[in-house]
Amino acid sequence: MRASVVVRLLVLLFALVTTCMFLRTYISVRMKTIRLPPWLGAAPTPAIQTKQSKCSLSKPCPASYFAFKICSGAANVVGPSMCFENKVIMSPVKNNVGRGLNIALVNGSTGMMLKHSSFDMYSGDINLLIKFLKEIPEGTLVLVASYDDPGTKMNDETRNLFSNLGSSYAAKLGFRDSWVFIGAKNLKSKTPFEQYLKNNPETNKYEGWPELLELEGCVPQRML
Ligand SMILES: *[C@@H]1O[C@H](CO)[C@@H](O)[C@H](O)[C@H]1NC(C)=O
Repeated sequence: MRASVVVRLLVLLFALVTTCMFLRTYISVRMKTIRLPPWLGAAPTPAIQTKQSKCSLSKPCPASYFAFKICSGAANVVGPSMCFENKVIMSPVKNNVGRGLNIALVNGSTGMMLKHSSFDMYSGDINLLIKFLKEIPEGTLVLVASYDDPGTKMNDETRNLFSNLGSSYAAKLGFRDSWVFIGAKNLKSKTPFEQYLKNNPETNKYEGWPELLELEGCVPQRML
């Protein structure tokens, strides 16, 4: 073997070894930069972990208040939903909502749901709603969410019954308005928990329907 060949082989070997060493250092540096420090990567301790508040409210309700969130339906497409004390009591997923008015009754002292129902306000029998509203027991919270059309079958009697539950807008509720509301049996004043949007072609969010409404907050136990 000639000397020049040996030199060339040695040079090649040297180059291979340095390349290998360079790559190893480079890769380990990269790995280190990617790896998070243990105090950042570790799972948070239960003490630090924030507990989500009831009904996903931005902040939890004080003691002796019930947390709630009510969404009206979106146009005639997505049904309304109601959460009370972290329980979804009516929703499309639960398959217990319908076009018209969706109403849930909750015991105002315990927060337990008594019953719920939906009333077709476009072509349904208005007497079913009148009977339901007249039978609401004392001390009951009444949660209401509209879907599609809550207004067509409204008459003076139902408007008065809702006004007596603390509603300000039942008096003018009409075809395809959006409405969400919490009232109580024999509420002496108007409830602070109500939102209303009139069906108005010039301001409607959807073609034919106003924006859906969201009402959330904390309702005091025994509102009466
Ligand atoms: C609500 O709960 C209280 C306490 O358990 C009970 O005394 C009352 O009768 C209930 N009211 C209704 C309407 O269920």
